[in-house]
Amino acid sequence: MINVPKGTKDVLPEQSYKWQFVEGTAREVAKVFNLKEIRTPVFEHTELFQRGVGETTDVVTKEMYTFEDKGGRSITLKPEGTAGVARSFIENGLVNSPLPLKSFYITPCYRYERPQAGRLREFHQFGIEVFGSPEPDTDAEVIFAASTFLDKLGIKDTRLEINSIGCKTCRAEYNKALKEYFRPHLDNMCATCRERFDKNPLRMIDCKEEGCKKITAKAPKILDYLCPDCAAHFEKVKGYLSALGVDYTVNPDIVRGLDYYSRTVFEFVSTSIGAQGTVCGGGRYDGLISELGGGNVPAIGFAAGLERLILLMENTSVVFPEPSAPQIYLAGMDDSTRLKAFEIANSLRLKGVSAECDHMSRSVKAQFKYADKLGAKYTAVIGESEMQSGACNLKRMSDGQTFLTAFADIYGFLRDNK
Ligand code: HAM
Repeated sequence: MINVPKGTKDVLPEQSYKWQFVEGTAREVAKVFNLKEIRTPVFEHTELFQRGVGETTDVVTKEMYTFEDKGGRSITLKPEGTAGVARSFIENGLVNSPLPLKSFYITPCYRYERPQAGRLREFHQFGIEVFGSPEPDTDAEVIFAASTFLDKLGIKDTRLEINSIGCKTCRAEYNKALKEYFRPHLDNMCATCRERFDKNPLRMIDCKEEGCKKITAKAPKILDYLCPDCAAHFEKVKGYLSALGVDYTVNPDIVRGLDYYSRTVFEFVSTSIGAQGTVCGGGRYDGLISELGGGNVPAIGFAAGLERLILLMENTSVVFPEPSAPQIYLAGMDDSTRLKAFEIANSLRLKGVSAECDHMSRSVKAQFKYADKLGAKYTAVIGESEMQSGACNLKRMSDGQTFLTAFADIYGFLRDNK
C-alpha cells in the first residue's frame, strides 16, 4: 500500500465541511474588508524566498522544498504566501493600481519541518497583504481583520500579542546592543546562533534551543531601541486597536521567523493546541518590495494556518455548521421505477435541489438505510401504484409525517418546505 507522505494529510469527504466553513468565513471577512483574491503559483524561483524571506531564517536554511527542474532552474515550493504576492505585485505593475491594494489568498504551503500536532509539511494559509499604506491605522485594520476572522469562526481561546521591531535605523542600534550582550555567551549557544551572531543577531532571539532560550530571555529588548518615528507609530497602532476594542498584550520577544518584517509584528496565540500555539502571525514589511526590486512601497499582512485553526476549533468544541445533506432521497423498486426515481432526482438537481437515488441496485430497505446515513430530509418510494397515480408520499424524516405529492409538484413542495 502507498501511504500519504509524512507531514501531509488527506481531507476526507466527511471532514471537508469544516474546511469549507473556515474557507467560506475567510472569504466573507475578505469581502467586508474589501480584500480581493490573488492567486500565485505554488512554486517560484528559489531566489525569491532567499531574498524575500531571508538567508538566515529557519525557513530558508532548513525547511524549503527545493529542487532543480528539467530545465536546470532552482525551484522551491512556496513555504509561505507573502513573497510570491510581493513578486506578483512588482511584476504586474500593481503599484499603478489604486492604493492601498488590499489582497487575500488561500494557499497550500510547504515546509520540511518535523511533523507534530499543528505542524505539517504541507499546510494551508489564509493570508492578507495590503500594499501602499505606511499609516498605523492600516496596521490596526489588518490586525482587526484577523481578529474578526477568528471571532466569526467562533474561536474564543486566543490572545493577541503585538510588538514593534523597528526600522533599519533602530535595528542598527539594537543589533549593536544584541552583539554586546551575546558576545560573552556565544560559547554556550548553538551553532546556528553563533552563525547568526555575525549575519543577523535579531534571529538569535527566535532560537528554540533550551540553552539559548535561557540566554536570550535576558537579552536587550527591541522596544527600548525604537527610533522616535517607530515609537510614535507603535503608540498609534495601540491607540487604534484600543479604539476598535481589540484586546492585546505587548510581547517584546516577538520577532517573527521571517526576515522581511519592520515595525509592527503580531501573533494570535492559543494554549489549547500544544506547542504549536500560533494560529495567526503577521506584521508590516515596508522594505520587502524594494528588496525584491520594486519601488519604495510599504506593506502589511498576516497569515493564519487553517490546520491549526481547525485543530483549535475541535479542541475547544466550537460547533461547525451542519454539513450539507440531500433534501430528498428517491427510492425505486425495479428497473422502471428506479428509472423514474433517477429522472426525478436529476430534474430536481437541475433546479438546484440536492437529490439522491439508488446506484447500487439495493433493496428498498437498504436504500432507506443509505438515505438515513446521508441524512436525507425527505424520502419517497416510487413503486407500481405511484407510477400509475403519478404521485408519491414524501416522508419527512425528522417526524415521519408524509405528504402525498404529484411528481410534477415535488420541486414546489421541496422549495416551500426546506
Ligand atoms: P508564519 O508565522 O511563518 O508567517 O506562518 C503563518 C501561520 O501559518 C502560522 O501562524 C501557522 O498558523 C501556520 N503555519 C506555519 N508553519 C506551519 C506548519 N509547518 N504547519 C502548520 N501550520 C503552519 C507567514 O507565513 C507570513 N507569510 C505571514 C505574513 C503575511 N506576514 C505578513 N503577511
